[in-house]
Formats: sequence, structure tokens, C-alpha cells
Amino acid sequence: LILVLDFGGQYTQLIARRIRDCNVYCEIEPYNTPLQKIKDKKPKGIVFSGGPSSVYGENAPAVDPAIYNLDVPILGICYGMQLMTHQLNGKVVPAEQHEYGRTKLNISRCENILKGLGPDEECWMSHGDRVEEAPPGFVVTASTEQAPVAAMANEERKLYAVQFHPEVVHTPRGIEILKSFLFDICGCSGSWNMGSFLEEAIADIKRQVGDRHVLCALSGGVDSSVAAVLVHRAVGDKLTCVFVDHGLLRKNEAAQVVHTFRNLFNIKLIHVDASERFLGKLKGVTDPEEKRKIIGAEFIRVFEEEARKLGDIDFLVQGTLYPDVVESGTGTAAVIKSHHNVGGLPEDMKFELVEPLRWLFKDEVRRLGEQLGLPEEIVWRQPFPGPGLAVRILGEVTRHKLDILRDADFIVTDEIKKAGLDKEIWQYFAVLPDMRTVGVMGDGRTYAYAVVVRAVYSHDGMTADWARIPYEVLEKISVRLVNQVQEVNRVVYDITSKPPGTIEWE
Ligand code: XMP
Repeated sequence: LILVLDFGGQYTQLIARRIRDCNVYCEIEPYNTPLQKIKDKKPKGIVFSGGPSSVYGENAPAVDPAIYNLDVPILGICYGMQLMTHQLNGKVVPAEQHEYGRTKLNISRCENILKGLGPDEECWMSHGDRVEEAPPGFVVTASTEQAPVAAMANEERKLYAVQFHPEVVHTPRGIEILKSFLFDICGCSGSWNMGSFLEEAIADIKRQVGDRHVLCALSGGVDSSVAAVLVHRAVGDKLTCVFVDHGLLRKNEAAQVVHTFRNLFNIKLIHVDASERFLGKLKGVTDPEEKRKIIGAEFIRVFEEEARKLGDIDFLVQGTLYPDVVESGTGTAAVIKSHHNVGGLPEDMKFELVEPLRWLFKDEVRRLGEQLGLPEEIVWRQPFPGPGLAVRILGEVTRHKLDILRDADFIVTDEIKKAGLDKEIWQYFAVLPDMRTVGVMGDGRTYAYAVVVRAVYSHDGMTADWARIPYEVLEKISVRLVNQVQEVNRVVYDITSKPPGTIEWE
């Protein structure tokens, strides 16, 4: 295990990804994690992430300096380097000029983490303060025009640091630096893979749950399906899945979910048709955050009711992923949207959570799903938000609008699949804005809904680019939408990336 301590840097997750891409397991913990907890995890190495603070700032995030004496190699990145310098009596100064972007790196000693690199490399910088003098016992191994100490090392104490970001692609040989740290310095074997994650996850779940009862919130999406099958592997029929059909699902989705889990996996499944209840709560509600909160809270309430009926249930499984955790505003990241499976939890929740996927990214969950033998149509199902079609219907959600959107969404999905684009496009769906436009059909005037087609490429949902769907495919979608969906007379294609847009419209 490599432990990344998070100081609020925008690239912290990327560090974790890069490390896992090297087949080394990695977890992220906040910078103020107690030292004992860090020790208990027995990491082979620790990485300090970057962060927006200055070591001279009020309440600047810091670690217990005893961490430097654990005899565990540490790599400090950006703020992590400044902190290491500051705590070990080097000199950090506010720079007159910020150094940002692609920068030339002059390597004076191609050794330890810089082994194998040339004297001149490119690196990605993003900092204000800079290290002026390395702490006693350190040698300076690289510099840039603005940063006299761009990399430094204390080989005896196995402490290393870089001012630049080896984890981003703009540092072309950054991955080699990470590999040197992981393999040469920390002695990682690089044998971790989804198979090892699976075994550890099952053991962890068994440890957490014992022989008590577990309830799983099954939505039929990739995340909750993988979580359910994983927990089922660990605890067998101590697991009961509850599928809350909030009436905001796609066409035929509810029937499919019930069939797959009951028949294919032999998992205990309770199907609750709560659509009336959700629609009632959503009546007259137009604000996106309010919709999300209502759905999230109602969802948990339905679960609690089911749990009460079942009696002795202690745990709730949720397929929360890492991006959900981050975007819902943990630590330093800003709240963009209240995600249904995190932000909506009421204070008085009665369950302890089992969240075996909370450290994984979407593509990793898919690999885990394959590892678990889930059928392809589930593993490759596109991500679908917890609040369902409610966040794709702008304005008030009604049964009538849901029917229109379901039919429209089915056509978009069908044509994308027929064109063979379903694996390369991350998400593709229809949105129903609260908007009617004038059209002409036959010889008559129409005044009907416009449907938005949304399709994006993405790796993890954190950023996205609009998909360049061929015109012919767009044309087929457009013709079918207008001809086959009642009350639709116009189709528009959303060409906004994320940022500045988000993938969903609400
Ligand atoms: P946005 O719209 O924020 O979405 O760019 C990023 C990814 O997250 C999905 N999404 C959700 N997933 N619960 C979820 O489990 C939610 O409340 C939720 N809201 C958005 C969205 O579909 C995209 O894949």
C-alpha cells in the first residue's frame, strides 16, 4: 500500500490513479490522519500531495513531524515539498512570480527518483511559494529558472520531494519518477491488480460485517450492481437487496434489474415500487438542488422502512465511488452538486455504511465487475445519476414528461448502440428542457417540446468532452425523435464540455 496524504491539491486523485496504473495499491487519506492510523496501515511509502495553501498561511495544513521518523519513504509533491522543507528546517519563501505551466527542468543529479532522466526535461509547475534552501541533510537534484530547488532528496532518511507535478501528462517523464519511487525506493512489487483488490475487499467486508445482516441499495447501475455482487460474495444470503423503483428510471429498466439479480445471481431482492411517493414529493419542485435533496432523503427513508420490516439489519451497502465522494464536498473540494448517494443522507441515519467501492474510479469498478463475472450489459452500462430522470427533466417532474423523456432516451441509446459508439462514448442520453418551440409538421403548426441530445467522452466523469457523433447518426436520432415521440418537434445537440458545463443538466 502507498498512502497519499491529501493537502487539498487538484491533482491528488490523479496521483492515486497513476500509482494504481503501476499496479501498486494506493489510498488517499486527509493530511490530518492520526499518525497511529497511518502506522496501522503499514504503508510501503507515503506521498504528500500538492495543495492550495502556503506554509506561512493561517492554519496551514501540516503533518505530525514524527512522520519523518517512521522509516517509511516519503515523496512530497508541490505543497508537500514546501511542507517537508518547512518542517525540516529548510527555507521556503514567497516567490515574486508564480511559476505556472510547462517549465524546463534542469536536473543536476540524475539519481534516486530522477534516475534515468536526462539533464533537461520538461515538467509541469503550479506554485506560488518556492523552496529557497533544502533542509539540512538534503541534496538538491534539480532546479528551474524560478525554483532553485525543484527536486531534492535525503537518501539516508528516504525523503524525496519535487516542486513540479510528476502525475500530470504535461510532465512527460513523470511516470518514470513515480515508478522509481514506488519500485526502487519503496520496494513495491507491482503485482497488485483487480484480483488482489477483490480478495482484500471481500476480507474487509467480512471483517466489517461479521455475520450480521446487510441491506443493499440496488439501482441496477454498474456501481451498485458491482457492490451488491461483491458483498454477496463476502456474506452470501446475509445480504438482502432492496431495489427502490423511484419511477425515475429509463425504459424497461426496472424489469431488467429484477430479472438479472433474482435469476442470474440468486440474490435476495425486494422490489419496492415507490414511484407515486416520489412523484408526490416532487410535485411543484423546480430547483435542481431541492430535487436532489428530496430524492436522496426519500430514498433513504424507503430503505429504513424496508429495513424495519426485515428486522435486524445493521449495514447499508452503497456503491459510492471516489468521484462522488470528492464532488460532494469532502475536505477542501467545493460542492458542485449534492450527489444522491452521499449528500442526501439524513442526519438520523440508522445504518452503518458499507462502501467497498469508495476508493475506485469508474473504469476500475468496471474491471472489478468483470472480475466478479457480471454480464457485459451491466458492466458496460453507462453511468446513471441516483436521482434518475428527475435531473434530466428541467422544471417540474411529471409522469407525462417522464413518459416523453423515456421514449426519447430509448431512441438516443438505441441509435448510439446501433452505430457501435456505445463503448467509446461515456454517456449518451436525452434531456427534456422546460421549453416548447414552434414547428411545422404536415401542413400544420406545432408547439411542442424540444429534446436535447447529450453525449460525452470521459474517463471518470470528473471532466468530459462533448462527443463528435457523426452527422448521419445525429440525423437518424433527430428524425426518429420527432417522428416517434409524441409532443417533440425539435432536437438540439449539446456541445458543451465539462468544465464549464456538467454532464447532467441539473
Ligand atoms: P455531472 O453532471 O456532475 O456528473 O458532471 C458527473 C457524473 O456523475 C453522475 N451523477 C450522479 N451519480 N448520483 C450518482 O450516483 C448522483 O446524484 C449523480 N449526479 C450526477 C453523472 O451522470 C455523471 O456520470
